[in-house]
Amino acid sequence: MKLETNAILLLVVVAVFMFLGSYFTMVVPLMDARLNAPSKDARPYTELEMKGRHVYQKEGCVYCHTQQVRNLLEETQRYGMGEEETFKRFGIRALIQAPPSQPGEFAYDQPHFLGTRRVGPDLARVGGKYDNTWHINHLRDPRSTSPGSLMPAYSWLFDKASQPTPDAIALVAYIQKLGTNYKWREEGVEQARKLQGISAALPFKEGKQ
Ligand code: HEC
Repeated sequence: MKLETNAILLLVVVAVFMFLGSYFTMVVPLMDARLNAPSKDARPYTELEMKGRHVYQKEGCVYCHTQQVRNLLEETQRYGMGEEETFKRFGIRALIQAPPSQPGEFAYDQPHFLGTRRVGPDLARVGGKYDNTWHINHLRDPRSTSPGSLMPAYSWLFDKASQPTPDAIALVAYIQKLGTNYKWREEGVEQARKLQGISAALPFKEGKQ
């Protein structure tokens, strides 16, 4: 009752709670040194990748694509590598999940493009998933690589002869860098090789324990 009738007191109490709320949800996490430390494989962007990052920002890719793999099985599986991909690229059949995004991977991102809306798939682990030609074709005409795709064609990133402009080339360099601040493909394949080596060496008979 006292609070509801005394405006000054109410203001003071609201201000105190707002301060506490912001302090514990913003200031305390920001003091965590791990947030600013680059992850072990992180390296700054090259000039070309940085230029591509500006193109990504300018073209508004972030409106349809997030850059964060969350700690959910649906996401780590979906954005990981399937058997076909590991076989084609590393000569081994394995299912490798994409690790959830870690703060240290974003140490060189300013502003960050974590995003909030997924009209298209998440791009945090897309680097290395396709080759450069795939990306060029996809940007020129998304339907040519992904039938039924909703993504707009970025025709202004191509000249009259349908050749990629420097902006398109920079953009692809940037896309290929995404997710490589953690060498998860290489580490995952190495681990799978070890596991398969162990299971091949075990005397295992089907149907018997
Ligand atoms: C209107 C929403 C929209 C916008 C804007 C958009 N995309 Fe997409 N994007 C999609 C959809 C939907 C897909 C899934 C189908 C496909 O592969 O085309 C996709 C797929 C992709 C993929 C393949 C992802 C994968 O794992 O297969 C890449 C790479 C990509 N987009 C990059 C970009 C870039 C770079 C831009 C900005 C120049 C951009 N997108 C803008 C909707 C969008």
